[in-house]
Amino acid sequence: MASMFDVILYQPEIPPNTGNIIRLCANTGARLHLVKPLGFSLDDKQLMRAGLDYHEFATLAVYDNWTDCAKRFKDRRMFAVSTKGTQRFDLVEYASDDVFLFGPETRGLPAELIHAVGESQRIRVPMLPNSRSLNLSNAVAVVVYEAWRQIGFVNGR
Ligand SMILES: C[S@@+](CC[C@H](N)C(=O)[O-])C[C@H]1O[C@@H](n2cnc3c(N)ncnc32)[C@H](O)[C@@H]1O
Repeated sequence: MASMFDVILYQPEIPPNTGNIIRLCANTGARLHLVKPLGFSLDDKQLMRAGLDYHEFATLAVYDNWTDCAKRFKDRRMFAVSTKGTQRFDLVEYASDDVFLFGPETRGLPAELIHAVGESQRIRVPMLPNSRSLNLSNAVAVVVYEAWRQIGFVNGR
């Protein structure tokens, strides 16, 4: 069993969001996976402005397309994290080898990726009525921290 979560950003567009998420993953032990096309290059100044160290890129994987990424995780439980999720994220019991898939900032996850997982694995973070969405990096932080809390902040202190 993997010892910590995997986080996938599907076609992220905005460099500072990905920068924040690289740092979040490094701080929690989650591994980060980016699916191309990306809206920036990995040496983008705005991305580096998140103050990242070399070691924070160590576990970052980049895939040319969704098919390659999906192959890598075909035997793992995956959650599609979306404003259109049917399941409240905090009512799920997470395991240390869960995978979390997030959508791009302006478009969200395509319907076919949301529907590729079972209904109980389409999770949403509650918001007030008529809200559009959370910032991507905030959504990742909320979900990863809830899941990590549930498994006892393994390896954290
Ligand atoms: C800025 S949002 C995308 C907005 C897009 N219009 C939508 O409704 O999906 C970027 C990503 O953050 C995550 N996200 C933002 N707010 C969320 C929420 N309340 N519940 C679950 N995921 C959320 C999702 O993965 C989403 O694809």
